[in-house]
This record gives sequence, structure tokens and C-alpha cells, in this order.
Amino acid sequence: MGLPALGLLLAAGLLHTQASPSERSFQLDYDHNCFRKDGAPFRYISGSIHYARVPRPAWRDRLLKMYMSGLSAVQVYVPWNYHETLPGVYDFTGNRDVEAFLDLTAELGLLVILRPGPYICAEWEMGGLPAWLLWKPDIILRTSNPAYLAAVDSWLHVLLPKIKPRLYHQGGNIISVQVENEYGSYYACDYGYLRHLLGSFRALLGSEVLLFTTDSTRAEELRCGTLQGLYATVDFGPGSNVTEAFGAQRRVEPKGPLVNSEYYTGWLDYWGEAHASTSAAWVAQGLEDMLQLGASINMYMFHGGTNFAYWSGADYKGQYKPVTTSYDYDAPLSEAGDPTEKLFAIRTVISKFQPLPAGPMPPATPKYAYGWVALRKYADLLDVLDVLCPSGPIQSQFPLTFEALKQVHGFVVYHTQLPWDVPDPATLGAPPHSICDRGYVMLQKEYQGTLERDGQTTLQVTGKAGDTLDILMENMGRISFGANTSDFKGLLGNLSLNSRPLSNWLIYPLAIDTAVQQGWPHAALPKSSSGGRVGAAFYTGTFETPGIAWDTFVKLPGWSKGLLWINGFNLGRYWSCRGPQQTLFVPGSVLHAGHPNNITVLELERAPPTPLLLFLDRPLYNRTFGCSTMATE
Ligand SMILES: *[C@@H]1O[C@H](CO)[C@@H](O)[C@H](O)[C@H]1NC(C)=O
Ligand SMILES: *[C@@H]1O[C@H](CO)[C@@H](O)[C@H](O)[C@H]1NC(C)=O
Ligand SMILES: *[C@@H]1O[C@H](CO)[C@@H](O)[C@H](O)[C@H]1NC(C)=O
Ligand SMILES: *[C@@H]1O[C@H](CO)[C@@H](O)[C@H](O)[C@H]1NC(C)=O
Ligand SMILES: *[C@@H]1O[C@H](CO)[C@@H](O)[C@H](O)[C@H]1NC(C)=O
Repeated sequence: MGLPALGLLLAAGLLHTQASPSERSFQLDYDHNCFRKDGAPFRYISGSIHYARVPRPAWRDRLLKMYMSGLSAVQVYVPWNYHETLPGVYDFTGNRDVEAFLDLTAELGLLVILRPGPYICAEWEMGGLPAWLLWKPDIILRTSNPAYLAAVDSWLHVLLPKIKPRLYHQGGNIISVQVENEYGSYYACDYGYLRHLLGSFRALLGSEVLLFTTDSTRAEELRCGTLQGLYATVDFGPGSNVTEAFGAQRRVEPKGPLVNSEYYTGWLDYWGEAHASTSAAWVAQGLEDMLQLGASINMYMFHGGTNFAYWSGADYKGQYKPVTTSYDYDAPLSEAGDPTEKLFAIRTVISKFQPLPAGPMPPATPKYAYGWVALRKYADLLDVLDVLCPSGPIQSQFPLTFEALKQVHGFVVYHTQLPWDVPDPATLGAPPHSICDRGYVMLQKEYQGTLERDGQTTLQVTGKAGDTLDILMENMGRISFGANTSDFKGLLGNLSLNSRPLSNWLIYPLAIDTAVQQGWPHAALPKSSSGGRVGAAFYTGTFETPGIAWDTFVKLPGWSKGLLWINGFNLGRYWSCRGPQQTLFVPGSVLHAGHPNNITVLELERAPPTPLLLFLDRPLYNRTFGCSTMATE
């Protein structure tokens, strides 16, 4: 504060007094069990949206629809690993321009509840923590471990100065900031860590901002997740007894506003399980019950969006459970940003408690069924390693993890040769918990089958000494919630043949996205590839969008599992043979009207006899199947 400003405050007698009602402030009122905004009692009705799951050209549309639903605020996570891509290397451009996103929220008249982590969960890869933290294998995540704290502090020193001028009392629209996330659900229960974060947030954001925590209503989690100096809030879904749930908050926070920081409007999907859904009437009723109590509510999610590229996380519940590409969440605004019946039910409830903004809800964006598109095989993956791994392989006696190779996402090929003749079927196997997460096995470049984390970890093989053996290892997303271990990827143990460890590996970390973003393979010479449809291979094709490039959904009928790019944009993983998700959302903003749109598919197991894609005007979310992990059906 400059001297003239200080003089004004002194003249107005404002120093040493409580915030004057006319001053811009956002505070807790313990006497009246509410928030106070500019001195007046206040409660918020908020919804979650994750800018990293929404294409930037759609940000304004989604935020406007949230505003028109009657929300006073949006709740926003900042995924650390989306921004600090390598230690000390930051990206705040394009879809990662969090400040531009916050500018839009302010422009639309929405307040912001910011959740900058450093851990966020969010079913996001590694809960938002950068995988490079695991380059130090002994690091202990989410604790006072010095290596972890040093990385956290250096990130917070980059992020929080961007946030500070946007705080409400500084003239911005951020009313509160969450520290960590559901920390009580983590095994460590390290108060020293929470105290350290409190100190860093205070040092970088100042003493005035309202800092809070969020935990489930379980006493054990509230015990480990809360700390003096951080306002404790809870999260629970529509199935809960509202009185009991807020009773849990009251046991740790006897006075102050009731807050449900994550009221679940729907739920996430796992590959191989039925599509989750939550009834609109049920969600609306629970919301009404909470608003009647005067509580402040954030709906998680109000708009879920999409786990593009490699950003989906995973859970661990007795086994590894990767999350689907769609993060539709059965939320009030669909994956493609369209108002649903649930949105209107919620809006009706909100209108009983506060006035809705004047004007109509913007309509659903148009979708287009572009129909069938034929693809052709470009090349087997093993025949283009020179393009995908231009620096060449790394030699190693024994397998190295993705982390040891400094490979964050995607794929690594482990190549060796059979050390002896195997005339009779021998067991190719990996020790328990060493396939992370899927290994596509090729012998003499022929696909043999897939080794799976917590699934099939052996295959029978035959061959001759010197035959080539390649394992294409896929990272399906790091665990984002609750686990006690760091989720290393790749081949974590020695692969063995009849229990004798294999050695002498050539390891190829693949930079597939770098190649595809540069136009490969469309810009490359055609390859004369084998006609086989089995095994990891690239397929290409093009299609044109007449007139305007509308949003669409692409189905991969008869394909097994892989990834799909259009014009170099990674639309995420498909797993048609497992489900439940059967279509990938294609935002119109990645398409080019009037030009051929370049499609690239990496199929990992088995393409259909005629490689076709089908572009639809609606998503398909709920068809599960059993996949074969064997090369022959
Ligand atoms: C965490 O893992 C360690 C080592 O495997 C084990 O001893 C401990 O019981 C685990 N803790 C929890 C809470 O699962
Ligand atoms: C909710 O819990 C309270 C306190 O345990 C109980 O009195 C009430 O009957 C419950 N309400 C419902 C609808 O179950
Ligand atoms: C999804 O499909 C399963 C199995 O067919 C069914 O039980 C479930 O009700 C469906 N869920 C939705 C949301 O349609
Ligand atoms: C692989 O085997 C070698 C030799 O037996 C051993 O030194 C090494 O620790 C093993 N690697 C792993 C990850 O188990
Ligand atoms: C598709 O690939 C062709 C060939 O490299 C290139 O000329 C064209 O610009 C690409 N189209 C788009 C929309 O990226």
C-alpha cells in the first residue's frame, strides 16, 4: 500500500477496525453462520467446470450457460501437471491460459472458488501432480518430504502471484481458495504438510483471503484433512441425509457457513463398467434441501467435459480402474456443453431462492452426423519407430520405467530377442504389479496378445533364438485418488521366459504426438504396409465438413482400443471392445471447414476387416463388452 492510500485509510478511520460494510470484502461470519460479501450476509450457489476439459473456443459458451442457470459462482481446479510440463518449464498458452479463463468468468459476472491444489484429484492424471515428481523415486507425495515440498513451493511461487490480484478484496472475483483437496482421504495424515501449505498460501496470497479445505463427511477424513486456520467444508452427493452430512461439518466447524463443496450431480465412468447416471429429480431435491438450510453449495460437476489426450486418471479399488475419455459425468451441461433436463430442474430450484438472470438459456450447439469415413492402414507401429523415436533407443540390461526414461504419457516399446530356442510353448510372464498398465506383445512383429495390470500377466510363446520380441507398453493414466503408492509406469520388473529373466533391451520412448502434431503421417510418403489388421498400427483418412464445422461424435465400430487424432488434435483414448463409452467427442473447433480434415488412428490390437469410422450427431455412452486379450479370437 502506498503512503497516500494509507493516509486516506487513516483519515477515514478504517485502520484497526473490522472491515467496513462498504469495503470490498469476503469473509466468514461465525456469529450468523454465513459468509459476508461486502459486509452483507451471502451464500453461493456454484458449479464446477475444468478449463482443461473444455476447448478454449467453448469456454465462453459454457460459462454463459452456467450464469444463465442462476449460478453465482464457478469452482475451478488448476491442474499443476497441465502447466508445469517439466520441472521449471511452464505453459500458460492456448487451452492452458488460466488467466484468460478467469478473465471470462469475471466478464460474465461469475464469482470464482479457486482450487489450485497442489493436488486436485479430479480423476485427472495423477490427481494433477506432475509425473516428473517420480523422477526422484523415493519422493513421498503429499507429505512434508523435502523434495516434494520444494517442487510444490516453486510451483506456487509461479501460480499464486497470478491469482493474488484477482482476489475479491483486491478488486477481482475470486472469493475463496481451497488448500489441497480431500487430504483426509490420503493415508499420510501429515499435519506438517498442511501447515506448510497454509504458510505458503498466506505468504503468497496475503492474510485476508478466505482459505478452506474440503473432505468427505467421514470423521476420520475430517480429522486428517482439516487444520486450524483453514475453514473446513464437506462434500457429499444427493443420496446423503443432509442433516447428518452437515452435522459432520459442524463437528469440526461448530460455527460458520454450511458448505458442500462437491455436491455430486452425477458420477465418472470407468472403462468396462456401466455408464453412471443420477436422476435429475433426486439431484434437484437434494439441492433444495441444502438451500433451505441456508447452505452454500458447489455442484460437482456442472459441466464435466472431456479427458482429451492422456489426461484421464484412474482409481485403485482392489484393482486398477482407468477412467474413460468422456467426463460427461451425467452433469447438467453435457460433455458437448448442452443444457439437459437436469440443468432445468436445478434452475427451477435455484429460482426459488434467488432471482434468475433475465433472458433465455442459450440453446444446444448444433451437431452434425458426417457419416462414414473410410480409413486405410498406413503402417505397423514397429515399422515407424524411426519417426516415433527419432533419437533412437536406449540400451539397458533390464527394463527401465517411464519415469527413469522421463517419458510422461503414452507409450514405450521394449525390444529384445529370444535368447534360446523355444520349440515348445513357454510362459512369457511378468512379476505381480509390474505391467503398468498394458503390454502389447509382438514376436517377430506378430501380435501375440496383451498383458494387463491386475489381469492376465502371462502368455504362451514359441520361437527360435534371435527372434525379435517387442512389448509396447501403454500408460492408461496415473492413479488420481487415495492410493498409498506412487504410480510408476512401464515394465516395472523383469519379463521372464519360463521364469528366466530376459535381458539386453533396446527401449524406445515414443513421441507419437510430436509427430502427429507436425502432420505425420499425412505429410509423409505413403508406406507399403502389410495388409494385416492385427497388431499396433496407424490408420489414416480424411473427411470434409460442408459449410460450418459443427461439433460431432465419432464411433469406431469393430475397432478394439487405441487413440484418435484429427488435424493433430488428440481426442483421447477409445476402447470400443470394452466400453461403456462408444463415441469420442469431436469439438467443431478442431475441424476445418472446406478443407480435408486429417484423421489418424493408432489401433493397438485389432482393426475391423474394413476400417471405417462413423460420425454421429449424438454420443453413445453405455455399451459394455468383454474384450479378448488374445491375438486370435
Ligand atoms: C502403505 O503402504 C505401506 C507399504 O506397502 C504399508 O505398509 C502401509 O500399510 C500402507 N498404508 C495404507 C494406509 O494402506
Ligand atoms: C436424517 O438424519 C437425522 C439425524 O440422524 C434424522 O433425525 C432424520 O430422520 C434423517 N432424515 C431422513 C430423511 O432419513
Ligand atoms: C447402462 O447399461 C447397463 C447394462 O445394460 C444398465 O444396467 C444401466 O441401467 C445403463 N445405464 C444407463 C445410465 O443407461
Ligand atoms: C532384474 O533382474 C536383475 C538380475 O537378476 C536384477 O538385478 C534386477 O533388480 C531386476 N529388476 C527388477 C526391476 O526387478
Ligand atoms: C492434412 O495433411 C495435408 C498433407 O500433409 C496438409 O497439407 C493439410 O494442411 C492437413 N490439413 C489440416 C487441416 O491440417
